[in-house]
Amino acid sequence: MKVGIDQIGYFTPNKYVDMVDLAHARNQDPNKFLIGIGQSKMSVADATQDTVSMGINATLRYLNKINKSKVGLLIFGTESSVDQSKSGSLFVKSALKLDPSVRAFEVKEACFGLTAGLMIAQDFVRLHPDQTAIVIGSDIARYGLKTAGEVTQGAGSVSLLISSNPRILELNEGHSAYSEDINDFWRPNNSKLAKVDGKYSTQVYLDFFKHTFNDYKEQKNLETRDFAAIVYHLPFTKMGLKANRIAIEGEDEETNARLMDSFTAAKELNANVGNIYTGSLYLSLLSLLENGDLKAGDLTGLFSYGSGAMAEFYSANVVEGYEKQIDKAGDEALLAKRKKLSVDEYERIFSEALEDPKNGVELVSDEDSGKYYFAGIKDDIRQYQAK
Ligand code: COA
Repeated sequence: MKVGIDQIGYFTPNKYVDMVDLAHARNQDPNKFLIGIGQSKMSVADATQDTVSMGINATLRYLNKINKSKVGLLIFGTESSVDQSKSGSLFVKSALKLDPSVRAFEVKEACFGLTAGLMIAQDFVRLHPDQTAIVIGSDIARYGLKTAGEVTQGAGSVSLLISSNPRILELNEGHSAYSEDINDFWRPNNSKLAKVDGKYSTQVYLDFFKHTFNDYKEQKNLETRDFAAIVYHLPFTKMGLKANRIAIEGEDEETNARLMDSFTAAKELNANVGNIYTGSLYLSLLSLLENGDLKAGDLTGLFSYGSGAMAEFYSANVVEGYEKQIDKAGDEALLAKRKKLSVDEYERIFSEALEDPKNGVELVSDEDSGKYYFAGIKDDIRQYQAK
């Protein structure tokens, strides 16, 4: 039985900062950000968009196309959670009016959270082929104003529907996983901002990529040239470019050109949205599906990485007619309607959103932001509202 990704929905807030403006404000050469880091723009979440509202908005992108009564599992992966106890899944379940019999919970392992959820969902659907699973990755990447990591921030969510007989990607059984207890990136309970050793993190990411990619190929008796494309976790697109260069080293010209072209297609959305932590790999997958040159049956490799650190390489095959399940025009419209912020406006919005609103203060959302928004805190309870 084939199990895989049947639907993909993504959401990003309606404001962004241009990396050229940020570079000027930080006295940096714009090419360092545009080429050296590989980022063009980054989405900014104001106080009315958090991981829950973004997760709801991402899932709404495909909800009217699916049978809600078949959803048996709802997993929320995040590293910028809104509560230390209650899972984001329950707010989402309620907004989407899913059946009370759905199993709903949250998972955490840095940027690996959505992949962890997807692997659980895959096993669930193999055991319960008549049911489906929604797996959401939703995050706001905050390193802090005027830090080296500032250019690798962003905000957004990706939601996947996992089902039998999927219409976008069929997941292949098997994987190569690798973990080590290290400190390359973390966020203590008393901080809204991440701590990171960026250069160390890049090194570990590349080491884990080499390990899992080679191990996977050996397990499955595959060569690099068998892959039509490889997509990577992209906290910033240069990181994936470095891994892709390792993947194609010593390969024939045709393989080199194909995997470089597919990487270029796969980084497009990420370069313009920024880092969305858990959703980054799947935003890149969506970018590849929309901008790449994939045919039915093509083998795609996926490399997931979460700091701390946990990595996994797995693969999937493209399903005939996948284009019909993707809303490319809607995805482009989401980016096109974003308002460009000046660096001063971004700094103010960023600082405001770091603090929770006071009890009883109602937040008002912009007209053109997502349908669902965070409306403030009442009696210590977070309120989510639809427009
Ligand atoms: N034109 C083109 N490229 C330029 C340039 C210019 N004018 N100036 C610098 N660069 C290049 C550098 O050569 C370097 O390239 P390389 O990585 O191929 O060597 C790149 O730009 C970055 O420069 P660097 O001096 O290393 O930047 P930095 O000290 O500001 O740090 C990060 C960059 C990415 C390490 C930092 O933003 C960070 O820590 N981000 C968070 C990373 C993260 O999230 N890790 C965990 C998640 S997996």
